[in-house]
Amino acid sequence: MCGTTRVLRATLPELQAIGVDTPNSVLFGRPSGKLIDFGNLGGEIVPSNLDHSQLDEIHWLTCVEVCDATHRLHRDQGLFMGPTSGAAYRVANWWSNKHPGKKVVAIFPDEGHHYLETVYDDGWLSSLPGWPDAARQEPSTVNAPTDDLKGWSYYAWGRRTLEEVFSGLVDPPSTNLLESPQRSMTVRSIASRPKERAEPGESSKEDFNPALMALSPFDNAYVTHLDLEFEQAQFVDPLYVVFSELRNSSNPDQEHPFSIVIRDEIVGFFVLREKAALPEWAPSDAITLHSLRIGRSYQGNGYGKAALLLAREWIAANRLCVKRLMLAVNARNVKARQLYRQSNFRETGVSYCGPHGMQDILECEIDSGNGRGDTFDLLHKAVPYRS
Ligand SMILES: CC(C)(COP(=O)(O)OP(=O)(O)OC[C@H]1O[C@@H](n2cnc3c(N)ncnc32)[C@H](O)[C@@H]1OP(=O)(O)O)[C@@H](O)C(=O)NCCC(=O)NCCS
Repeated sequence: MCGTTRVLRATLPELQAIGVDTPNSVLFGRPSGKLIDFGNLGGEIVPSNLDHSQLDEIHWLTCVEVCDATHRLHRDQGLFMGPTSGAAYRVANWWSNKHPGKKVVAIFPDEGHHYLETVYDDGWLSSLPGWPDAARQEPSTVNAPTDDLKGWSYYAWGRRTLEEVFSGLVDPPSTNLLESPQRSMTVRSIASRPKERAEPGESSKEDFNPALMALSPFDNAYVTHLDLEFEQAQFVDPLYVVFSELRNSSNPDQEHPFSIVIRDEIVGFFVLREKAALPEWAPSDAITLHSLRIGRSYQGNGYGKAALLLAREWIAANRLCVKRLMLAVNARNVKARQLYRQSNFRETGVSYCGPHGMQDILECEIDSGNGRGDTFDLLHKAVPYRS
């Protein structure tokens, strides 16, 4: 797979390579454990032909999930294959559903006859702890390959070597950014602006020193702690979907993921889109804001307002020709609407039906004169990645 990926990338540089493994395998840096006879799925040693730096994502499926996936492949597609194929099918099918329009190729390396006495044997299956209930229908994101895996799990490998991933983990991607030696310290806060330049809607909360930190499409580990209340999660895509889309964007230079840093801690996240990356409802002279979230433990402190101010300031300082910031908000999202109203957004009168229901389009003006001048310093991304 690594060799195939390497060759294909010569003509398809945007190709995404996804590895599938099982939790007790050491292939992607997990501690070794008892491997059930899964043919060539998983390994107790790392073979020299495994080039980790080719892989964008790694998924781990438990034994029960792998067996369930193998039976699905047989039942749904009429393909009598082995467990490695089943696992690849499960992940490829999920990925394909998340990325409509993308071509997905799954490598099915084993057929079913070798597994008549295991994966295809009811007696053997019933001895598997947890069978027949697969733990998860969707992967859960992990912050590190060594995390405790309770079911189907996903890690943004980011085309790094094993050493790069683990040297990062010695000093893990922390939410306490300014203590990281890799960080640039050139943060200027909106709170440090002279008072007379404050905008309407600016938080009156204490000086909490907010800043933006630009992220790469592989930096999802920095924001996975930003979880939401159950009823809020309906209004934004899960972060693994947002980052997966960023990594697969046809216009990567025109989508800008940011985290919001307050007192050296990441409290929120949003994405700005421009030009060819704009959604269909946005005019070409606008920038749009997407996936705004403040982690639930940080909400109610004025950080949402600070995030919107920072977005406007970034645009005012970096995109002089752009005169408006636009976004779509769910008609039922009372909290967000209130936030936008207080932050000088106004209704455009346009609505559209999006993946999260009926959305109203709002906009606010960008006044370059209200920016902080000709520079806007950001914390820089810390995770090395290969484009
Ligand atoms: C919407 C969201 C970003 C607000 O973040 P926040 O940090 O809590 O917002 P702030 O503390 O800056 O509050 C700003 C304003 O929002 C409104 N607001 C905040 N909490 C509220 C609540 N529980 N009920 C109603 N309005 C509320 C208030 O008007 C508040 O201003 P005020 O404190 O002066 O009254 C956050 O709730 C969130 O992440 N929600 C889930 C994801 C989401 O819906 N994103 C928007 C997609 S369009």
